[in-house]
Amino acid sequence: MSETPADRYTHGHHASVVGQHRRRTAEDAAAFLLPHLEPAMSILDVGCGPGSITTGLARRVPDGHVTGIDVVEDVLLEARELASDSGVSNVTFEAGDVYALAYEEDRFDVAYAHQVLQHLTDPVRALGELRRVVRPGGLVGVRDADYGTMVHAPDTPELHRWLELYHAVAARNDAEADAGRYLYGWFRDARFDEIEMSASTWVFHEPRQILNWGDSWAERVTRSALAEQAVEYGLASADELEAIAEGWRRWAREPDAFFTFLHVEALGRVPAAG
Ligand SMILES: C[S@@+](CC[C@H](N)C(=O)[O-])C[C@H]1O[C@@H](n2cnc3c(N)ncnc32)[C@H](O)[C@@H]1O
Repeated sequence: MSETPADRYTHGHHASVVGQHRRRTAEDAAAFLLPHLEPAMSILDVGCGPGSITTGLARRVPDGHVTGIDVVEDVLLEARELASDSGVSNVTFEAGDVYALAYEEDRFDVAYAHQVLQHLTDPVRALGELRRVVRPGGLVGVRDADYGTMVHAPDTPELHRWLELYHAVAARNDAEADAGRYLYGWFRDARFDEIEMSASTWVFHEPRQILNWGDSWAERVTRSALAEQAVEYGLASADELEAIAEGWRRWAREPDAFFTFLHVEALGRVPAAG
């Protein structure tokens, strides 16, 4: 594990958070990486959470193997269960810290991190570790949200306050909520020179999606680590968090409710010289 104190993860692993992560697939969260995968590749998925993306990546490399790691052990139990229930056997889950990976150099063909760098205090150091364990010619892929690009309609003051608060809590944790726009610079700082950049959006407008998104954030802003940290840091009171949650629930029941934001994607090739 890392020799430095662990970063404080803004979201934590309340059921309302992990429930959202579990909905993700390799197809929607790693589309830019998939064309580069070959059947026998060995992949590391760091910060894998409940493992739905990891298990999807394993399906894409039927003759290879995927290793998912996360600093939190409990979420790995869920990841193992999901892989087993899905009948996917070429995937294993291990506890591990992206800052201090327990693997030798050049061990993997590809390393992937989805919505992980945005939570770290030192994303460039993490990229250096990913680069170390990927073979020359292999790929490091990263996709992060950019909270500063989040827009919604109809205009709802509570959602603006939620976004302001989210930025403030992440900043107190020395993390970058607007990570997407910085990925290119971080890859350059980590000495990648062949970097492919792309971006994709999440768009919510169907009533079921909107209800899920709005009600989930209502729960997260009152019950998850985000709520605890907002109160602990003196950034909001429990009453204000309740008002924000009510704003989310009301917004999610508006017939014209719409929400979108950008994810930025970076794919760096590890140079032949390592
Ligand atoms: C937003 S979640 C993303 C989970 C998954 N990649 C997904 O997109 O569904 C971030 C995950 O990174 C993990 N994480 C945070 N810091 C980490 C570190 N230093 N090393 C490994 N994982 C870490 C958290 O525990 C959490 O499960």
